[in-house]
Amino acid sequence: MTDHAAAALELLPVPGLPEFRPGDDLAGAIAKAAAWLRDGDVLVVTSKILSKVEGRLVRVPADPGERDRIRREHVDAESVRVLARKMRTLITENKLGIVQAASGVDASNVAGDEIALLPVDPDGSAASLRGALKDLLGVEVAVVITDTMGRAWRMGQTDAAIGASGIRVLHDYAGAVDEHGNELAVTMVAIADEIAAAADLVKGKLDSVPVAVLRGFEVVDDGSTARDLNRPVEEDLFSLGTEEALAQGRAQAVLMRRSVRFYSDEPVDLAVVRRAVGAALTAPAPHHTKPLRFVLVREKRLELLQAMRSQWETDLRADGFTPEQIARRVRRGDLLVEAPEIVVPFLVRDGSHAYPDDRRSDAEKTMFTVAGGAAVQGLLVALAAEGLGSCWVSSTIFCADLVRSVLGVPGDWEPLGAVAIGHPTEPLTPREPLEGLIEL
Ligand SMILES: Cc1cc2nc3c(=O)[nH]c(=O)nc-3n(C[C@H](O)[C@H](O)[C@H](O)COP(=O)(O)O)c2cc1C
Repeated sequence: MTDHAAAALELLPVPGLPEFRPGDDLAGAIAKAAAWLRDGDVLVVTSKILSKVEGRLVRVPADPGERDRIRREHVDAESVRVLARKMRTLITENKLGIVQAASGVDASNVAGDEIALLPVDPDGSAASLRGALKDLLGVEVAVVITDTMGRAWRMGQTDAAIGASGIRVLHDYAGAVDEHGNELAVTMVAIADEIAAAADLVKGKLDSVPVAVLRGFEVVDDGSTARDLNRPVEEDLFSLGTEEALAQGRAQAVLMRRSVRFYSDEPVDLAVVRRAVGAALTAPAPHHTKPLRFVLVREKRLELLQAMRSQWETDLRADGFTPEQIARRVRRGDLLVEAPEIVVPFLVRDGSHAYPDDRRSDAEKTMFTVAGGAAVQGLLVALAAEGLGSCWVSSTIFCADLVRSVLGVPGDWEPLGAVAIGHPTEPLTPREPLEGLIEL
């Protein structure tokens, strides 16, 4: 693996280019202004002049509001998705696969009543320009088309390559070893971006020098183009802006929960369960009470489940089921045997009000019961938000005395089922919300 660095480089501005308009002969103008181009040079061209000659200019009215509206329309039209939005700044993935502000739509270095869109195919434009310069000057040059971009985490903008032809845009050091014997496992130098940024040092933004030449670089042409510099958005660690990621998390929190009945062998981190229980305990409850107790059943689990199974079998025998039917039924309870952890939620009606009549007594009871349901759902949602699968099963509700007796909890604790918890064998994904609001 050779190094990408050159011993020395020259950066040569190309002054004397005209103000370009749609339809102008860019290659001809460059051939005239830089007749001194040589084989192996890298021609670095600001995308703005390609936008101009390719007619990617949009006339905008003087009224600032109208102007902004039209600009935004074009930003939307050029983008395939919005990744982040803050005040007036919109970070998009554009049709070229480039993630940048405002889809590259820009009002700098164009006439006051115009905005410029990026060239439709900057790699294609780079290849055409390269071919035309070969025809006009007989030289074999590489071409890099640039645009100015901000960077996440860094102040200031630099130029980056949005089009390239005739140059290897990435220099991959995978497997190479440095002079200290360290393997460069993840080093891949974005050569075309480095060239774009370096050329900006002689092009500038104000003096209409939109083209520069890099001389002395050992150009390798591997057929790559600037598209190869785009990391697919879904592979990026920061595929959404912070606000958008938070909004998505909030929107999907409830939708991530589903009944998971199969778990991997990976142990459950009890700190996560503790956090989820803490979240669940914030559920709404009547009279400012905290009527839930979540019990992580570990040492007494087998004893509890065996006792519950015997009781269940007794109930089913009394119902008249055959031994085969009973065996099939009770197998459903295996979920609680096999789950890495189980939590039994209990409802304690502490603080509930007493009424002299059944109507209000029943309502008061219901009120606490529904609060129990809300808290258990909160637990399931909180577990799902942490990537844990769970299934809420009813069985302890049907043998409350037995559960209390095995676990040694007070007589007024009402079990609300049991929650099996574990790492799902398949990662959780959000479900589609359902239609169901009844408006009266
Ligand atoms: C109070 C309650 C008791 C449940 N009991 C059981 C159970 O005993 N066994 C079981 O496999 N699932 C049980 N479930 C889970 C339901 O079967 C499950 O929620 C339903 O099939 C919908 O699937 P989902 O949770 O993936 O949306 C229970 C759910 C609730 C709310």
